[in-house]
Amino acid sequence: MPNTNDHSTPTLQSTNASTPVINLSQVHLTLGSGASQVHVLKGMDLVVESGQSVGVVGPSGSGKSTLLMVIGGLERADSGKVILDGHDLENMSEDELATFRGRNIGIVFQSFHLIPNMTALENVAVPLELAGDENALAKAEQELVAVGLGERLTHYPTEMSGGEQQRVAFARALAPNPKILIADEPTGNLDEETGIQITDLLFEKQRERGMTLVLVTHDRTLAEKCQRVVRVHSGEIEQPARKPVARKRAAKKQKRS
Ligand SMILES: Nc1ncnc2c1ncn2[C@@H]1O[C@H](COP(=O)(O)OP(=O)(O)O)[C@@H](O)[C@H]1O
Ligand SMILES: [Mg+2]
Repeated sequence: MPNTNDHSTPTLQSTNASTPVINLSQVHLTLGSGASQVHVLKGMDLVVESGQSVGVVGPSGSGKSTLLMVIGGLERADSGKVILDGHDLENMSEDELATFRGRNIGIVFQSFHLIPNMTALENVAVPLELAGDENALAKAEQELVAVGLGERLTHYPTEMSGGEQQRVAFARALAPNPKILIADEPTGNLDEETGIQITDLLFEKQRERGMTLVLVTHDRTLAEKCQRVVRVHSGEIEQPARKPVARKRAAKKQKRS
């Protein structure tokens, strides 16, 4: 019988209390076929601890959205490892992956991606119904109230403003209580003021629920609201860019020494 009281050899767990919830190593992915093939991800490494927020910046076409698709389990890597919450996605069948995604990953897109012939309430209930939740509609209502849309339950997407549609998309992403929230340019289609409201809501819910957030944005100021910023360039992740405060501290330290 193993001696469970033996503290003499520290295990990986006891030395590293926060296990990464996202762990990508040497991820490669080529998309398209024939002449239009593009080697989009060229050996990406990314480790994100549980509850951390990471902003992803980089030029258009550098592979940011594709990276999110891989983290979201919507695209499989050609090679390399994608381990989410300790689960190696490579070992999952398509059905297992879909179930895992439904439970653990919430996704918000720039263009909302709501189902046009469903009301706000029905849109938010979709992932809950797919997961077999018997209280799907009641929970969906709670989520809509939580994003300030209690008065828009029976509205269709075309009857709502961009900001409202993004709130619905957000409520839908949050409804299954995912561990990981990924957002691809969530303010890209919104005016500045609405964008700020959506961003504030995003960070508020992330903190409230202790979710891990990966946020793609071309807006540097928004990215820097995250605890960490990484820069993608031509399918590779550059050395993590440090936040200005960390840079200032490092400069001071250098001055002192
Ligand atoms: N399905 C696809 N087939 C071929 N090339 C693709 C496909 N999807 C994306 N790409 C290419 O991959 C590159 C990265 O795309 P993307 O991840 O959308 O970049 P970003 O989000 O940083 O703008 C682009 O050059 C794009 O044209
Ligand atoms: Mg993109």
